[in-house]
Formats: sequence, structure tokens, C-alpha cells
Amino acid sequence: MKKPPESLLSVYSNSENAIDRHGKAALSAKPGSRRISPRPVGAREKRMFELTGQTALVTGAATGIGEAIARRLTEAGARVAVADIDLEAAEVAAKRLGAGAFAVRLDVTKTDQVTAAIEKAIATAGSLEILVNNAGLAGKAAPIWEQSDEDWHQVLGVNIHGPFYLCRAVLPHMRAQGYGRIVNVASIAGKEGNPNMVAYSASKAAIIGLTKSIAKEVATEGICINAVAPAVIRTKILDQLTQAQVEYMIQKIPMRRTGNAEEVAAVVHFLASRDCSFVTGQCYDVSGGRGTY
Ligand code: NAI
Repeated sequence: MKKPPESLLSVYSNSENAIDRHGKAALSAKPGSRRISPRPVGAREKRMFELTGQTALVTGAATGIGEAIARRLTEAGARVAVADIDLEAAEVAAKRLGAGAFAVRLDVTKTDQVTAAIEKAIATAGSLEILVNNAGLAGKAAPIWEQSDEDWHQVLGVNIHGPFYLCRAVLPHMRAQGYGRIVNVASIAGKEGNPNMVAYSASKAAIIGLTKSIAKEVATEGICINAVAPAVIRTKILDQLTQAQVEYMIQKIPMRRTGNAEEVAAVVHFLASRDCSFVTGQCYDVSGGRGTY
């Protein structure tokens, strides 16, 4: 291993938490210096953003970004409720994940199913610490004058009414336990507005507003609520768009490529963890540099 510069080594070895290379605290403090509390051997090797013992409910987790998030949280130690309108696909995904993951049938637009899904997750796993509102629809690719009431309501129903119902149902539980993490999957379209995606762009702007609003309502209660705003990510949702629309989005990305679901999951993982302790009401871009604010 490359040796750190001497200056860094001396700062490190004088620090309160100086740990030797076997993970043991340095107990031979000089008289007059502060006593150093020993840390358990191996504590330094602890996985980052550890989620062992926690339960996460991820909506739309049967495929795409949701499945990648479910996998990432599972690998960090969480037990995941794979909640999706497509129960069969959710069961397959939960089986693939293993580690106690279980499928939950959930249409996020139905309040009774939202309540039942949260109750099932708590009854099955014993607690619920993490909610990821990921389920979403792109909707019909067309200008506003070609969008019917139904087109508008369908997208708004899944992308914003759903997360509203889920947050409203889960927060009393998180408040009672004094801990919780909610991550809402927005989109760069919510910040910039993509043409021919009026309902989608409006719904994703709304979820950023929802995130910022409710984060402040529970900011002193151990609950952090944040959003992520991915740019174009290669999943099945792109089948709802035209090739021209996908090209339009890629050429706006400074990295000039689509993202992948794992890159979104990595950011969600931090926001879902205990390490995310002084960050709330924020929206993180996962956009290859496209986001400008
Ligand atoms: P996808 O279409 O691959 O997967 C969506 C999942 O949500 C599916 O498993 C589907 O069955 C489920 N779902 C749909 N309606 C539902 C409902 N009413 N209740 C419960 N589950 C439902 O989509 P993808 O690409 O994985 O997107 C996930 C999230 O990421 C969405 O919120 C999307 O808007 C957002 N996003 C995606 C981007 C992309 O380029 N793929 C870019 C920015 C944001």
C-alpha cells in the first residue's frame, strides 16, 4: 500500500481516534493528553453506509432503477420489500435478491394498497426505516395539445400522488420510532422541463417540492428526506419515448452518455443511510453534469 505523506501521518497519529494498522486504538497516550477510547477491532473495516438490521420499501423495484436500488440496499445489509404493480415480476426480483427480500403488490395510486403495503412490510420485517419512492411513468411523448386529461392524470397519479400517499402513510411510523430515511426519485426533467413530456416534467418538479416541504416538517425528528434527479438512464422506461427524444436528452449531458441504474443506486444508498445525517430537503443530480442548479 502506498505510504501517506509524513505530514498526514503525524496529524493522524495525534488525533483522538488514532488507530493502529490492526484496527486497535493507540492506548499509550502521553500523560496530559486526552484518553483515547478503544474502538472494536475491525471497526475501520465496517462497510460504508451500512444498513444491517434495517428494512427498506422500494416502489417500482421489479425492474430498472428500482431493482438496482433494491440490490444495492440489499448488499448493504437491508431487508428489502420489493413493491411493484407487477407482482409476478416483483416476486422474481425478490427471489433474485435473496437476503430475506420479499415482494409486495402495490399500485402506488391506490391509497388502500399503500397502507396495506406498509403494514405488510412492517409485519414481515418488524420495522421500516427506509422508503424509496421510485415507481414512475414517462407517459405519452407528445406536445401539450395532444395530451388528453387521461394522459395527464395517469402520469401525475403514479409520479406524484403515489409518493404523496406513501410519505403520508409512512411518516407517522417513522416519527414514532424517531428515525427514517425517504428518497424520492425525481428527474432532471423536473428542473429543466423536457419538451413533449409535460406531465412527466410537471410531476418531477412537484416531487422536488414535496421533498423540500415535508423534509422541513420532520427535520428535528431523526428523519431525512431527499430526492435524486437522474438524467437519461438506460431502462425500459425509454421504450415510452421516441429515439429523437432520447437523443435530445443525451446531447444535453456533458458526459455525452446515458447513465446506468447502478449509478443512481449509489447516490440513493448514501441518502438512505444513517451516514446521511445532516442532509435533508435536497435534490441530488445524477445527470453526468447536466444539472445546473
Ligand atoms: P421502468 O419503467 O424501467 O420501471 C418502472 C417500474 O415501476 C416498473 O417495475 C413498473 O412495474 C413500476 N410501476 C409502474 N407503475 C406503477 C404503479 N402504479 N405502482 C407501482 N409500481 C409501478 O422505469 P425506470 O427507468 O427504472 O424509472 C424508475 C424511476 O426513475 C421513475 O420514477 C422515473 O421517472 C425515474 N427516472 C428515470 C430516468 C430514466 O432515464 N430511466 C431518468 C430520470 C428519472
